[in-house]
Amino acid sequence: MINKKTVIVTGGSGFIGTNMVRLLVDSGEYRVVNLDALTYAANAASLADLDQSQDYVFVNGNITDSELVASLFEKYQPAGVFHLAAESHVDRSIISPEDFIQTNVVGTYRLLEATRAYYANLSDEKKREFRFLHVSTDEVFGSLGAEGYFTEETPYSPNSPYAASKASSDHFVRAYHHTYGLPTIITNCSNNYGPYQFPEKMIPLMIMNALSGKPLPVYGDGSNVRDWIYVEDHCKAVKLAFENGVLGEEYAIGANNEQNNINLVNQICRILDDVAPPVEVSQLRERGLESYAELIQFVTDRPGHDRRYAINSAKITSQLGWQPEVGFEAGLRRTIDWYLSNSKWVDQASGGSFGEWMRKNYAWRAAESESK
Ligand code: NAD
Ligand code: TYD
Repeated sequence: MINKKTVIVTGGSGFIGTNMVRLLVDSGEYRVVNLDALTYAANAASLADLDQSQDYVFVNGNITDSELVASLFEKYQPAGVFHLAAESHVDRSIISPEDFIQTNVVGTYRLLEATRAYYANLSDEKKREFRFLHVSTDEVFGSLGAEGYFTEETPYSPNSPYAASKASSDHFVRAYHHTYGLPTIITNCSNNYGPYQFPEKMIPLMIMNALSGKPLPVYGDGSNVRDWIYVEDHCKAVKLAFENGVLGEEYAIGANNEQNNINLVNQICRILDDVAPPVEVSQLRERGLESYAELIQFVTDRPGHDRRYAINSAKITSQLGWQPEVGFEAGLRRTIDWYLSNSKWVDQASGGSFGEWMRKNYAWRAAESESK
């Protein structure tokens, strides 16, 4: 019989958090306390099937709430923290950075403080077991030219307010290890895709817009490059880093899968043409579309748009034995199938204030579309 570890996962109702909580609970090795403020990006329904599980507790609360966080440490006596809660969308950070500073910087700091206080009173044996795993992004490293890769040695050079807030949180985590000896590990991963991603991000946005016959807005000339990883592969890497990573170290995570944006959108359209041809979608039948690719529209570029991200994952591969398992074509097909089969989830996610927010705030994109 396995002695299950209790861990706090922050942001467990978001995209990666939902996949992370599932992986931990399904492994049979963990009891998870999910602390999530249920912002626009969360969907509590994503984990509703775990409500009856002995190994899952949901707490609706904010990581900036020091009292609440301290009470959770006290009540659950966790063996670790997986810190995923964040404001996560670059475009929103360009429009309105404030929430990014509050959650990503102040929230991470408050969580670290609560962790430090809890850790100080643990027995030596519990101290040896405990770790704080901070989930971060490769965007803290800035932008690459045509050549080269990000590694753990790459100097920080964040360009967007989102990246700056994550870089700041990474630095606080590092400083808490260096100054107070808090047992921390940081992971910096590339762009994730897969089930439960809020449809403001590139891949689900393109899938959902295509299926409802809306334009597919590609920023600039579509030549920016991202290194895409299937979300479950990322979560497996994070679990491994938590269990076997060296304290105080960082691990860069990527699936060696660079794609430029226009090729990516064309691949999504090709798969959609195959599995849900426009002539078979009721609201598109009258439009006479032969391919979803006809909906592609180049729009004004994102301000400060990073050119290229690419990760060299040699450290986590050689030291912890991690390898991505899901190929890109298979991962994209799985993702598209998931969005096609989960229209209720998508309606919940994109209902509410999301549509209005997009219309009001995507000034650079709206202006371009109107001029066409
Ligand atoms: P997401 O926006 O889908 O989910 C974030 C979750 O955090 C939501 O459930 C939200 O309600 C919760 N949250 C936000 N503010 C909170 C607060 N103050 N207190 C408690 N909960 C709060 O984000 P995601 O894409 O799942 O990203 C998760 C983490 O992984 C983030 O730290 C992000 O920086 C990092 N990351 C994301 C990617 C990616 O491609 N999505 C890549 C690398 C790293
Ligand atoms: P995104 O999913 O927002 O992730 P990030 O900015 O964190 O990399 O965007 C991925 C890429 O897709 C990025 O180069 C911006 C581009 N993009 C578009 O071209 N159109 C869109 O509508 C969105 C949301 C993104």
